[in-house]
Amino acid sequence: MLTVERLTVRRGGREVLRDVSLSLAPGKTLAVLGESGAGKSTLIASVLGLINPEHGMVSWDGRPIARGAVALVMQEPRAAFNSRLTLRRSVCEPLRARGLPEDQDRFFRLCRGLELEPDLLARRPNQISIGQAQRAGVLRALIAAPPLILFDEPLSALDAATQKHTARLISAIQREEGFAALIVTHDLGYAAAHAENIAVLREGRIEEAADADVFFRNPQSSYGQSLVNAAVALGALEHRAA
Ligand SMILES: Nc1ncnc2c1ncn2[C@@H]1O[C@H](COP(=O)(O)OP(=O)(O)OP(=O)(O)O)[C@@H](O)[C@H]1O
Ligand SMILES: [Mg+2]
Repeated sequence: MLTVERLTVRRGGREVLRDVSLSLAPGKTLAVLGESGAGKSTLIASVLGLINPEHGMVSWDGRPIARGAVALVMQEPRAAFNSRLTLRRSVCEPLRARGLPEDQDRFFRLCRGLELEPDLLARRPNQISIGQAQRAGVLRALIAAPPLILFDEPLSALDAATQKHTARLISAIQREEGFAALIVTHDLGYAAAHAENIAVLREGRIEEAADADVFFRNPQSSYGQSLVNAAVALGALEHRAA
């Protein structure tokens, strides 16, 4: 279980997260919504331990999160990879880090699921498309089956059909393997389809936190209402009403 307790973070002299608390159980998905600059990526960096908070703490089952127990799909797909290494080497790095052998079957099964030709992964990051790099980032996060995966807008560079397909694959593996997923997304359709819990961040604070069913039926905060109304107007939540 991931627990974030009363997290306050300063960056560049400004408070960018204030008193943020949330929790996330194994096998569940928490979607973090909020406008650009709200502090979503800062929250992820804090969970990873890349930023020291001013106050508060992050824990997994009451202990600091162990290295290797958490994977990240970065918001900027190419920046996620070492430009000098082949993608395959980077993608399999989490296995080496945890002292696990490379499981060829799993590797090829995940490549197929993500529609990544294994040959593509023999290349370097600047020799593939951004959408391919994004899916390679998802592959790297899944490869070592960590208990917690943080996704920072993981499907933003993909076309709609590939988004849907990739989202389904992530969910299928989550059902099999039971990782907890914290996912930052601007795609309310995705959140409605895949998340059990919603947190809305605004200017560094939790504006609203609720079960997804409750949130999409009856958002409480005015900002939450505007997000849901905009998604309804775009038809992004239609499958939910059905
Ligand atoms: N390294 C940094 N130094 C100083 N301020 C930063 C730094 N990184 C981010 N910030 C500031 O912290 C705030 C939150 O940024 P963050 O990247 O967490 O936003 P976000 O919600 O992920 O936005 P987006 O949807 O655009 O990715 C912003 O005001 C940003 O300018
Ligand atoms: Mg961000």
